[in-house]
Amino acid sequence: MLAGKKILLIIGGGIAAFKALDLIRRLRERGASVTPVITRAGQEFVTPLSASALAADKAYTDLFDLTDEAEMGHIELSRAADLVVVAPATADLLGKMAGGLANDLASTLLMATDKRVLAAPSMNVRMWQHPACQRNVTTLKDDGILFVGPNEGDMACGEYGPGRMAEPLEIVTAVEAALLNGPLKGRHVLVTSGPTHEPIDPVRYIANRSSGAQGTAIAAALSAMGAKVTFITGPADVPPPVGVKVVQVETAREMMAAVETALPADAGVFAAAVADWRVKSEATSKIKKDGTGELPVLEFAENPDILAHVSQMDKSRPALVVGFAAETDDVVANATAKRARKGCDWILANDVSPETGIMGGSENAVVLIDADGAETWPRMGKDAVAKRLAARMADALG
Ligand code: CTP
Repeated sequence: MLAGKKILLIIGGGIAAFKALDLIRRLRERGASVTPVITRAGQEFVTPLSASALAADKAYTDLFDLTDEAEMGHIELSRAADLVVVAPATADLLGKMAGGLANDLASTLLMATDKRVLAAPSMNVRMWQHPACQRNVTTLKDDGILFVGPNEGDMACGEYGPGRMAEPLEIVTAVEAALLNGPLKGRHVLVTSGPTHEPIDPVRYIANRSSGAQGTAIAAALSAMGAKVTFITGPADVPPPVGVKVVQVETAREMMAAVETALPADAGVFAAAVADWRVKSEATSKIKKDGTGELPVLEFAENPDILAHVSQMDKSRPALVVGFAAETDDVVANATAKRARKGCDWILANDVSPETGIMGGSENAVVLIDADGAETWPRMGKDAVAKRLAARMADALG
């Protein structure tokens, strides 16, 4: 996948630096060549010798001496790469990048490069959440710097929260997305995913069993083919994919608003299991047992149908609108009728009867319904369904 690609890998000074060594290995396994640059602080965690041995290339450090400069100047070093990856990107490195400092080799290379830069932040949760760090991240995103992670989890310092560096394979996926000139390059695709939560009162809500796995896999597959993806997700079980714009929502109405904001798009995939109904008047305080034995009665209101709304738009309708149909009986007939009723171009229909194990599971068995009829796909992993759909979409968009 990365054959012939050149990665300049800047290793900052954090405990996650050891993962950068694995990252070198993973990138090289995929055919990329890696030139490591280790900051002074980074050398407290990994040695130039180990990075150089894994990369089979010289590892550059601050001791970039005149001999090196004669071999390859720092400007050239920063531009010979196809992509610059900063992993771990410490709070200090992000601050230097956002402020435009160039007082060591790593920061000088980052200032001098004309290539895209992908940062994998890694730091203590408080440092990550600090307004100064968040301000720097916003500045860097506005400058076009790409980010992968950080992930949430236990940290080496004993705390819990966002700040863990993305895993090497997640960084590889982000590298691939950044470098690939896929067939969907230049296309904007929006994907809805996950369940919605419809509040009853401040502590209770109505939900469904959607894990978000299929929508997440579709967003990742579209992004891997070069599309710019806006991923609008309800509260899902699986984490959102890397390298896409993530918009988190709770309710169907919030999802509708986020979709409208994300338009225009070349295509829309509506994989979310949107709740059809919400509670008409959400209680503003917790509904209590009143001791009389009388049960509360919930009155419902219908939620907006996002797929139907977008399919029937006049000017802003994406050229290709794909819906899902979760059915338990007469899958093809029901989904064909649904396609006509909603006005979308394709429906991916699946049988979600409990015995199929599809809802919340890792596999899917779908039927693609378009204007020409129904095409049954064999049962396969949700990732494989996603890749097949993304390829079909790339064909259709031309
Ligand atoms: N959908 C939507 N907004 C809604 C309900 C559904 O965008 N309020 C989308 C889903 O994302 C999916 C498609 O519509 O792409 C089909 O949803 P499904 O729940 O299967 O169908 P319903 O419209 O609920 O029809 P039925 O209740 O007859 O199954």
